[in-house]
Amino acid sequence: MIEKAKGEFTVSNILQPNEGVYQLDDYQSRYHTFRWEDNEWFNKKKINAAYETIDRHVEEGHGEKTALHYINQQQHQTLTFKEVQDHVDHYVQILRANHVKKGDRVFIFLPKNPDCYVAILATIRIGAIAGPLFEGFMGDAVHDRINDCQGKLLITDKELGQRIDRQQVPSIETVLYQEDISDQVTQGDRYVEWLDADDGMLIHYTSGSTGKPKGVLHAHRAVSHHALTGKWVLDIHDHDIYWCTSHPGWVTGSVYGLFAPWLNRATIVIQAGRFKAEDWYQIIEQLGVTIWYSAPTAFRLLMSKGDLYANYNLASLRHVLSVGEPLNPEVIHWAFREWHLRIHDTWWMTETGGHLIVNLPSQPIKPGSMGRPFPGIEVGILDEAGQVLPRGTVGQLAVKTSWPGLMKTIWNNESKYQEYFRYPGWYVSGDLAYQDDDGYVFFQGRNDDMINSSGERIGPFEVESSLIEHPAVAEAGVIGKPDPIRGEIVKAFITLRSDYVVSNTLIEEIRQHVRKRLAAHAAPKEIEVVDQLPKTKISGKILRRELKQREHDRISMSS
Ligand code: WTA
Repeated sequence: MIEKAKGEFTVSNILQPNEGVYQLDDYQSRYHTFRWEDNEWFNKKKINAAYETIDRHVEEGHGEKTALHYINQQQHQTLTFKEVQDHVDHYVQILRANHVKKGDRVFIFLPKNPDCYVAILATIRIGAIAGPLFEGFMGDAVHDRINDCQGKLLITDKELGQRIDRQQVPSIETVLYQEDISDQVTQGDRYVEWLDADDGMLIHYTSGSTGKPKGVLHAHRAVSHHALTGKWVLDIHDHDIYWCTSHPGWVTGSVYGLFAPWLNRATIVIQAGRFKAEDWYQIIEQLGVTIWYSAPTAFRLLMSKGDLYANYNLASLRHVLSVGEPLNPEVIHWAFREWHLRIHDTWWMTETGGHLIVNLPSQPIKPGSMGRPFPGIEVGILDEAGQVLPRGTVGQLAVKTSWPGLMKTIWNNESKYQEYFRYPGWYVSGDLAYQDDDGYVFFQGRNDDMINSSGERIGPFEVESSLIEHPAVAEAGVIGKPDPIRGEIVKAFITLRSDYVVSNTLIEEIRQHVRKRLAAHAAPKEIEVVDQLPKTKISGKILRRELKQREHDRISMSS
């Protein structure tokens, strides 16, 4: 696993801060004096993340400020902070009327629209735990997540709700449909449940290399992490129009799509639908987006459209950030050349609850690096024994514990939770990386079989389980195959049961089987039928690594 890092960077490759970019305090001095304790949220005796995110601004006299722009094809709706608060009040009343109380799990399965954001906040304001679900999930994916933490109530709409089979989710007592909620009349005092910093707030299900998705539980203490990184990394100021392209079902969409920007009182953009280059440039022009947080796959797709951007006025844009998967240097150089903007890479995970390695706007960027530790964060590159390796050596990317956003636990799975802390004093990410002499961290891959396609984490086990539910599939091994646009694509190797013969129709049927049960992004783009799968001699476990190696060898032979 350990090898010498390749590819030194010359000074000419380093991008200096853009002229005119807001200069934060000098990195070094900030780094040495920084303390998480020195912020208004850290020391609060009682806290509520939803209150801090919306109600506080209204109370401080900013109720008339625009909180959001919602763009859905031709429709453009705006809401002020006061209007968002009114909507949250309405949802709070309805949740309380349905007996939701502190600690209950409420799942929110809605498209990217204002109600999705409001439902998350209302759940949190009454002290319940919000479980936002990506709108692309199909029945099995939704059922598994709800069952794991025994969700009590589900908020969905009539379209997405059709994917759910009530029989499969017995813990759900009530399903509320967005369409009915707006018609209900509610009244009563504004209700806020005041909580301990360590009380549960959000649960995000995420995939690893083994088992079904795990429920990563975040606590209200994460507010200080969200707020501070929102200020320094996203660089939010009062006049900013901020757009994060991720759905709140993913951690980027909740933490940096909802909490961090609104804690800093930004006006956010909520855009319906997925990626389309023309629409995205159009949104920036139309709304005057100033800060934009997206993912490498999106930037690569925009790059593949060449000078399409020249048809739009992107002058408002001043700060661009990326997360979720490796950001190629070519993309950074392209954006710098064409848009005259640097793309600031950030590294963090569902489990870390907030940014840990970042490119601050005032700091030089080394293309190919994810940046440097956020102040207050110490990174270690560890060997197999948990010892810190010298700079420039590839090893396990770990972070000294603790920080406010760090997950509280893995739901109902203490042993999984403990695996992250197997070396005392460190959180182990599962990523491989090296750190250079200036502190910049370079991502080198995963230390396990987790798949990252378009920045979305996909667990091979979940896909394999779905594949073998198809009557034709005897066994399945699923890997991430390198892909120039998506980083990786999901590739499945399968063996067929003896009474089936391979055909294009059968392959397509198997693909659709996964697509309809799990999610389109998890369905294998490639399915290869083989006579047998490589397995370990003793336990007979499928050797995904060998499948991956074969695929790499094929790619390098053909290039
Ligand atoms: C990967 C997303 C390269 C990494 C916030 C990590 C990255 C996993 C980067 C977490 C980056 C995240 N460069 N790889 N800048 N950021 N990753 O939980 O493998 O969906 O462990 O959180 O994405 O994905 P998650």
